[in-house]
Amino acid sequence: MRVTPRTLQKYKETARPIVTLTAWDYAIARLVDQAGVDVILVGDSLAMVALGYENTLPVSLEAMIHHTQAVCRGVEKALVVSDLPFLTYQESLSQAINTAGRILKETAAQAIKLEGGHPAMIDTVARLTQLGIPVMGHVGLTPQSVHTLGYRQQGNNELEATRVTQEAISLEQAGAFAVVLEHIPATLAQTITEKLAIPTIGIGAGNYCDGQVLVTADLLGLSEKSPPFAKQYLDLGKLITDAVQSYSDDVRTRQFPPNLVP
Ligand code: KIV
Repeated sequence: MRVTPRTLQKYKETARPIVTLTAWDYAIARLVDQAGVDVILVGDSLAMVALGYENTLPVSLEAMIHHTQAVCRGVEKALVVSDLPFLTYQESLSQAINTAGRILKETAAQAIKLEGGHPAMIDTVARLTQLGIPVMGHVGLTPQSVHTLGYRQQGNNELEATRVTQEAISLEQAGAFAVVLEHIPATLAQTITEKLAIPTIGIGAGNYCDGQVLVTADLLGLSEKSPPFAKQYLDLGKLITDAVQSYSDDVRTRQFPPNLVP
């Protein structure tokens, strides 16, 4: 059965941790879905891991739609959430509706994610959810604000902790079905997780959250630079280089291909 926001809510209520990973194309999405994750996020981190940009800012809505379509073709079970790219939703409510609407109409994603929990964004989330668009929020370190926040931990003083907590609560009140908590202290993530009725999905936020998300390229060892809180489970980069070198040696020494006898 397909995972839905309602499934995630049940998982929170029964304390079953929610497994989330990113995907950026058909092949990765198929494997990640077959492995049984609950949520597949077409994160705008694909700007870096699939398109070679320095940060998430340059990725276009067209590129996100293109990659989300490919991911959806590979997914049968997981809930697919697609990120709204930088400056395709912050300008006005109608811009946000148009962007989120395009993602849901032109791809098979079932939900969108957007960054921030300041009052204007809360209004946007309220309107999108009223229109029937499931929204995942994202607070703490918000990579689209790299030029103002950097990539440093957020919420590690009282003022910031209060702000991040309030943003998460406001997102829930506006109708978000889950909130990503990125790079905040574990104790703060625990407090927020206990205060919210909706699930929290942590990344660099300790293990008290209702679920966890990792960028799949970091997990597989395909990223050039990974954040300090990521865990690499495999060195796929080395396996690929080794395989390509073996192939190159075989071609250069004429060991491959074998000559087929007619
Ligand atoms: O773009 C992304 O991959 C994300 C995750 C880090 C949560 O937003």
